[in-house]
This record gives sequence, C-alpha cells and structure tokens, in this order.
Amino acid sequence: MPRKIIIDTDPGQDDAVAILLALASPEDVDVLGITAVAGNVPLHHTSRNARIVCEVAGKVDVPVFAGCDAPLARKLVTAEHVHGKTGLDGIDLPDPKMPMQDQHGVDFIIETLRKQPPGTVTLCPLGPLTNIATAFRKAPEIVARVQEIVLMGGAYFEVGNITPTAEFNIYVDPEAADIVFKSGAPITVMSLDVTHKALVTHPRVEAFAALGTHVGKVVAGWTHFFERFDVAKYGSQGAPLHDPTVIAYLIQPELFASRYINVEIETQSDLTLGMTVADWWGVSGRAPNATWAGSIAADGFFDLLTERLARL
Ligand code: RIB
Ligand code: CA
Repeated sequence: MPRKIIIDTDPGQDDAVAILLALASPEDVDVLGITAVAGNVPLHHTSRNARIVCEVAGKVDVPVFAGCDAPLARKLVTAEHVHGKTGLDGIDLPDPKMPMQDQHGVDFIIETLRKQPPGTVTLCPLGPLTNIATAFRKAPEIVARVQEIVLMGGAYFEVGNITPTAEFNIYVDPEAADIVFKSGAPITVMSLDVTHKALVTHPRVEAFAALGTHVGKVVAGWTHFFERFDVAKYGSQGAPLHDPTVIAYLIQPELFASRYINVEIETQSDLTLGMTVADWWGVSGRAPNATWAGSIAADGFFDLLTERLARL
C-alpha cells in the first residue's frame, strides 16, 4: 500500500528532483497534493515551479496549492544565490499550463488531515516549516492525525549552511520549526548531516543525462546548475542533493541509519538563530522528540533515484 503524502515545498532544483522521485514511485507514495511555501525564492516562483515540475513529470492531475508567502514572524530570506532568480535555473522550461488550486495550501493540509483516517497521512516538508506550523496553529486537533512528518532541515555535525550554525529551511522560519518540533507529531529529520553525504557528483549528473529522456536532461540541467555554488563553497565533488532524501526515506528507509533524540530550535539568539540543537549524544536529559538520520548509503540512494527517474 503506497503511503499517502503531502509534499510541502519551495522549489528549488533539489525540491524539484524530490517531487519527480515521488511522482515516479506510485507503488510507494500517493501524492495527495503539493503545497508551495516561500523559501528558496518567493511564493509566486515556488508555486509556479511546483506546477512546472508536475508537467515535466507528465503528472498534471496532482493538485498544487499556494501556501504562506512569508515566515510567521520574520522577513523572508531567500536563496537566489544558490537556486538562481527563478529558483529552477539550469534549463529553460515553458510556463506551466496546469492551474493552481484556489484553496490555500494551509487549508488543504488541514482539510486532508481531517478527511483522511487518522495516522494515514505523512507530511513531507522540503522548505521552511511555515505552512505546517500555520496549519497546526489553526487546527491543533490535526496534529494527532499525522502519521509522520519526514522533513529536510537542520544540521548538527555538519553545522549550518546559511549561517555558521543554521540550515536554511529552519533559519528562514525558526518560530515555525519550534512549533513543529514541539508539536508531539512523530518527526524524522533529514538534516545536512545526511544530505552532505549525498553529493551529486559529475558521474551522477552524467547518469541522469545518460537516461536519454526529457526528464533525464532536465534533472541533469538542474543538478549541474545547483552544484556550482556548493562546489565553489566547499570545494566538494558536487552539491548535496538535499530534498530527495526525504522521499528516498519513504521508499527505502534501510538506506539510512538514525537515532531517536531530543532536538530543540534556537529562536532567541541572533548569533545562533535557527540552530537545531540536536542532542545526538543524549547529554541534555531532555525527552527525545525526533528520529535524526545520521548516515545514508549514497550509492544506493543515487541508484534508486536514477532508476525511478528513468520511469518518467
Ligand atoms: O538547506 C537546504 C534546504 O534549503 C533545501 O531544502 C533547499 O531546497 C533549501 O530549501
Ligand atoms: Ca527545499
């Protein structure tokens, strides 16, 4: 039975690859809807990009919703320096033809969790947690109905990528992250600790291109563009392919090794704002609240990703 999921996202090339992986895996995940959030680029781009990705996959029946256009309590910080002006730079794609749903993304999340049997819907946030936190605030009773939240965000051993201590998704809306991590919902975290071990190296980009399909060409274009920033910054062999690790976890959890630990979010200090204080060594005495992935079988991850993308 495929898991019913909602993908909450700020496309972004890596979000786009995550959405393609999900849409290519109907035996594993049933995408009930995609909700866009402001993050890598503003909402008008992320909500447009989400529809572009569905059209690249040829899955135009997936409902796409626009969610929140700004963090709960702060000015939006974006990442055009990583993702380009549109958020999907790397290959030119036509404007989307498929419509945006009229319903607000937050209301779709609430309605879906109310309608579906309790414990049967997994939320997959790939960007700032603004939509999820807003839904939990507006309808607190839905928290107990969530099967699991599997999110990309945070960092502990890898430290920050937008500041020395914070990862981008958490940094953009730390108040939202604090609400989610304190909500009591089951949370699994794909942080930089994992994604920085899943580098999209040249041979892996070539493997996408070698698929010989439109999707392969598009994904090679996105990942080639996306890597230039991280290679220059880290001198690494490729960029970390962050968001697809969330979907890969749903399909092949055995690719990951995790620990159930306490994770709290810094929302007060300007110096360390948005830091995920992950008690990996269990020294705080605070109750665990999240399953934190520490490692990934990177070759297995890219084999899965390439094999599934070949289906589109
Ligand atoms: O820090 C990496 C995360 O921030 C990824 O989700 C990327 O898409 C950006 O949203
Ligand atoms: Ca993202």
